[in-house]
Amino acid sequence: MLKGKRLLISGVATGDSIAAAVAQRAVLAGAQVVLTAYPRDVAAAEAVAARLTAPPVAVLSLDATDEDDLLAIEDDLRERWGLLDGVLHAIAFAPKPALHGIMDVASCDVETAMRTSVWTYAAFGRLVGRLAPSGGASLVGLDFDSERAWPVYNWMGPCKAALRSLNGYLARDLGAMGVRANLVSAGPLSTRAASGIPDFQVLLDAWQQQAPLDWNPADPSGVADAVCFLLSDLARAITGEVLHVDAGFHAMATHLKKPEC
Ligand SMILES: NC(=O)c1ccc[n+]([C@@H]2O[C@H](COP(=O)([O-])OP(=O)(O)OC[C@H]3O[C@@H](n4cnc5c(N)ncnc54)[C@H](O)[C@@H]3O)[C@@H](O)[C@H]2O)c1
Repeated sequence: MLKGKRLLISGVATGDSIAAAVAQRAVLAGAQVVLTAYPRDVAAAEAVAARLTAPPVAVLSLDATDEDDLLAIEDDLRERWGLLDGVLHAIAFAPKPALHGIMDVASCDVETAMRTSVWTYAAFGRLVGRLAPSGGASLVGLDFDSERAWPVYNWMGPCKAALRSLNGYLARDLGAMGVRANLVSAGPLSTRAASGIPDFQVLLDAWQQQAPLDWNPADPSGVADAVCFLLSDLARAITGEVLHVDAGFHAMATHLKKPEC
């Protein structure tokens, strides 16, 4: 499905990262992959990369909030491949106070969360727009249902709502270059980012009660397959979309009457 595609996959921190699962599926599907990792995660990302079926071409250090780092990645890709067919944005961060509450949070913490989790998606849009081949390219990001308020999640909720809005604007501005922008809205997965969310178990319990399909928070492969689909030419007519990969949770009004086991 991704034969010959040159892909940049960001956000590998551990073997559980959604980005690690995407990298694994992408190389199996025939893609050439460059990984990026936050500077302090590079060694861990290299270890993850070495365990992939086909190791990625490179693991590059990237603080995605740093313009110099972004330019260095662009230069590297220009020199390495010349053109880029797809990018996965798998980056989010909020300082602890912003994950613990809403009203008593300093604006600098909110700014950090928004800059890291939202602005960087636009920066990746700029990158792929500059390096896209004439046939177009694909930008994919990762959303968590932000249409309603959760008992947990706090400022990451408004961050994801902003990401969703931004996705439409990127689809608008990148469309002229044949570049698509889409999000996968994933159910809760047990990653490092998730472990930073206080009471994450509340979300796992909600999925247990409301998702019509089984949801395994330790298995990101369904999300990874959907990302690979959006990165592929099979999704060539899709942009500005949010694809739910959440075992159907979002489509149910409330908890389900599940048969007793
Ligand atoms: N785990 C879930 O339940 C879930 C559900 C829906 C969406 N998501 C989203 O998936 C994406 C990936 O998260 P994950 O769950 O795989 O967790 P993860 O912790 O494995 O990945 C988050 C990544 O963001 C990176 N990052 C943070 N700040 C950065 C910066 N300034 N520059 C570059 N990288 C930076 C981290 O180093 C890490 O690699 C995030 O956008 C997250 O919000 C996660």
